[in-house]
Amino acid sequence: MNMAIILAGGQGKRMKSDKPKALLEVLGEPMLSWVIGTCFEAKLPEIVITKGYAQEQLQEYIDNNYKNSNICTVMQEQRLGTGHAVMCAADILREKKPENTIVLYGDTPLIDSGTISEALEIHINDANAITVITAEIDNPHGYGRIIRSDNGISAIVEQRDLTGVQGNIKEINSGCYWFKTDVLLSALDEITPNNAQGEYYLTDTVKIAVSKGKRVGAYKAQSANVTLGANDRIGLLKLSDIARTMIIEKYADLGVEFVSTEGIVISPKATIEPGAKILPNTHITAGSYISQGTVIGPNTRIINSRIGKGSVIDSSVIEQSTIGCECKIGPFTHLRPNTVMHDYSHAGNFVEVKNSEIGCGTSISHLTYIGDSDVGCNVNFGCGVAVANYNGSGKNRCTVEDNAFIGCHTNLVSPVTIGEAAYTGAGSTVTKDVPSGALAIERGELRIFPGESVKRLSRHLKKGEELNKKISEENE
Ligand code: UD1
Ligand code: CA
Repeated sequence: MNMAIILAGGQGKRMKSDKPKALLEVLGEPMLSWVIGTCFEAKLPEIVITKGYAQEQLQEYIDNNYKNSNICTVMQEQRLGTGHAVMCAADILREKKPENTIVLYGDTPLIDSGTISEALEIHINDANAITVITAEIDNPHGYGRIIRSDNGISAIVEQRDLTGVQGNIKEINSGCYWFKTDVLLSALDEITPNNAQGEYYLTDTVKIAVSKGKRVGAYKAQSANVTLGANDRIGLLKLSDIARTMIIEKYADLGVEFVSTEGIVISPKATIEPGAKILPNTHITAGSYISQGTVIGPNTRIINSRIGKGSVIDSSVIEQSTIGCECKIGPFTHLRPNTVMHDYSHAGNFVEVKNSEIGCGTSISHLTYIGDSDVGCNVNFGCGVAVANYNGSGKNRCTVEDNAFIGCHTNLVSPVTIGEAAYTGAGSTVTKDVPSGALAIERGELRIFPGESVKRLSRHLKKGEELNKKISEENE
């Protein structure tokens, strides 16, 4: 068994936030959750997180989001360096006895599972005591530099401890390493804060292991993204931009269609099947699932919702809802939480649906509100139907059975049931149940007074005449 330690004790003063740095978000997800997700992907379910600054917030986040996971936290009371942070997790390593342990940072969110797994492979195949994940970057200032030897690497030297030509080295320590756990535990006992910063450096484990004749290797990551962290809000924004493009490119590679990346934001916790098409200005948030053959966007938000095969969502907002296959939603539809649209159903222009189930093939085409309702299959809603689900003190449900036909501007005053294949006349306010097969019309008598209108409309009609005159003069 292997384990991961994630260092997440940092504050990040320059972020101007009272949160622990690892909880600041990249693309709407806390950086820590990116790293945890990557561990899971790399089949590392056993995780220890070291916490420090604002630890209650971090603990609450873990408790709320990773209830049934094998994640535990340990407190680092004082920030005495990366080596010290790992020492705080030592008891757990002694207890759980993983063969290998990887150390990761909670504020370096773009490390990927491929890098972690490939580094582990080398770590095992080369029988390394430590395998450092490195990257080659143009501006290595501030990073620990990798000192190579004939047989792997001999040391990592921190920026402030560099001497001579070491400053020219462009291969840097990403801060992530695989350790043989027993080597890590014994090296931690020997680390001292004898350096420019007076800290316990985790990097010192390299020279300690080498001095005992153990092999330390390096795995150079394909992309320098693995080492990217952020020290301020602008840095955080840059991470989001990089992550946004990474995710779009990942899906493009898998067969999702894009015509432009403009304005497209896909959460790392969303899933899109190959064969879906995502149009500009579309946000797809955590927990969303987009099936093949769908067209999503432009100008659409899919919030924690499921979209079935072949459905089209145009210029709409879909919140915590489930949409079946071959549905047509939009333009300008708002589906609020707990809406289920079954296969082949349709909600069109300026339609709002909330906490309702809409049956197969049902059509709600224009200017309609449906709240707290159970609607059957093949129901047709005319334009401007309103469900009066709220009477000022409580909510009531409305039922519309299969094949019903709801005329334009019907008010359905809940609780009320419209029976199977029943019909409501346009403009009716329905306050009583309508039995199956019945026609319900609630409408005052239409009275007609011949010639009456021209007396009342003299000003209005004169305006029309003047306009006609002006237009015909212009056309002469
Ligand atoms: C560290 C490495 C450096 C590497 C760089 C990559 C050491 C001594 N140096 O430097 O070689 O190139 O990362 O980013 O390890 N942390 C704690 N408790 C502490 C100190 C740090 O939890 O007492 C956490 C921080 O919150 C952060 C991570 O460890 O997530 C790295 O700490 P940081 O101080 O940024 O290390 P660097 O000096 O950048
Ligand atoms: Ca750093």
